Amino acid sequence: MNEQFGIREILTNHPIVPVCVEDDPARIERVMEKLEASGIHCIEITLRSAGAFEVIQKALEVRNEGFSIGVGTIISSEQVERCATLGVDFMVSPGLTSHLADAFKMAKVPFLPGVMTSSEIIAGLEYGLDTFKLFPFNLAGGEKALQTYGSVFPHVKFCPTGGVNQEIAERILQAQNVIAVGGTWMLK
Ligand code: 3PG
Repeated sequence: MNEQFGIREILTNHPIVPVCVEDDPARIERVMEKLEASGIHCIEITLRSAGAFEVIQKALEVRNEGFSIGVGTIISSEQVERCATLGVDFMVSPGLTSHLADAFKMAKVPFLPGVMTSSEIIAGLEYGLDTFKLFPFNLAGGEKALQTYGSVFPHVKFCPTGGVNQEIAERILQAQNVIAVGGTWMLK
């Protein structure tokens, strides 16, 4: 088992990760209902709106059993601690620093840090990590980057996010180094 507290199991169970930017707690239940109706039992609520923490709290209150609630756009240790206290199921960051890696390890909550370059992947491996958000996927080189990283880092699994649509998602989910895909396309 890697040092990410079971993120691979979560992503294997939820290979489509909807990235949600929501400011109003009153709207999140409907969003989750719609996702469940289309067979998706997971959400990544981003910290990109003023009301994000209220939205997360509401989502945790109203979720059905088996629905996994993650928080995304985590960029500070304080946010990691706050999310861990709330009891979220997983955390996602667009990047990775030594401070964030330490905070994630202290929190003991499944986490998915972001990488884009070979050096960032190597830094992640040095922290004992092997599962990353490949972000922004379209700017990282898209499917060609995935293929290349697959031969350079055969044991690393990615969740490509950024510029993914249904058609791309279906195709890249077939790749041996893709464990899940993320994005906003299914919420539009
Ligand atoms: C994210 O934060 O994961 C991305 O902004 C989602 O990108 P998309 O809107 O291109 O799917």
